[in-house]
Amino acid sequence: MTPFMAVAILSIQLLSLVAGWSANAPGNCRHGIREVLAEMSTLTFAVSAAVVFGSPDLSVAATGMENFQASCAGCHAGGGNTFPFSSKKTLFQGDLDKNGVNTVEAMSNLILKGKGGMPAYGEFMSQKGNMIPARFTEAEVIAISDFVFDQAEHGWK
Ligand code: HEC
Repeated sequence: MTPFMAVAILSIQLLSLVAGWSANAPGNCRHGIREVLAEMSTLTFAVSAAVVFGSPDLSVAATGMENFQASCAGCHAGGGNTFPFSSKKTLFQGDLDKNGVNTVEAMSNLILKGKGGMPAYGEFMSQKGNMIPARFTEAEVIAISDFVFDQAEHGWK
């Protein structure tokens, strides 16, 4: 969340609070409007709470995607096998199922340890020495796996 968003959310909330108070002031007979405004401030509160508390999840998802684009897409663009060429080990659901890489555990393990032409991301240097991949933490690897499964679920479209 950017500071701008935080300020925007806070001011919306402040406005709706003030609106709620003045609408609830004694002598105000417009019940309809009062109820609508009270509801609006509750809604605003719920939405901003969702934005504030929901944001860590959103940023984890973005990191998984960003890390995939930066470190994996060179060989797995669009979920395929662009390099080295091997058409039977794509990141599409059919292949993931066939090759038993269809759980977060199996995929994280593969990413951390590498296999064949696939570098190991749990170390600075691939065991095969063919590349120097980024070193990912376990949480980052899980986020990347989640991104891959998410994409595989709808055919990388
Ligand atoms: C240098 C090229 C390369 C890079 C970079 C690469 N991979 Fe791979 N990947 C491969 C190769 C080759 C295989 C097949 C390995 C084998 O022999 O089983 C593979 C296999 C996989 C599989 C199993 C697919 C299946 O159907 O069996 C997954 C999942 C996978 N890679 C995910 C990733 C992720 C996520 C990243 C980034 C963190 C990544 N790969 C980076 C080359 C690469």
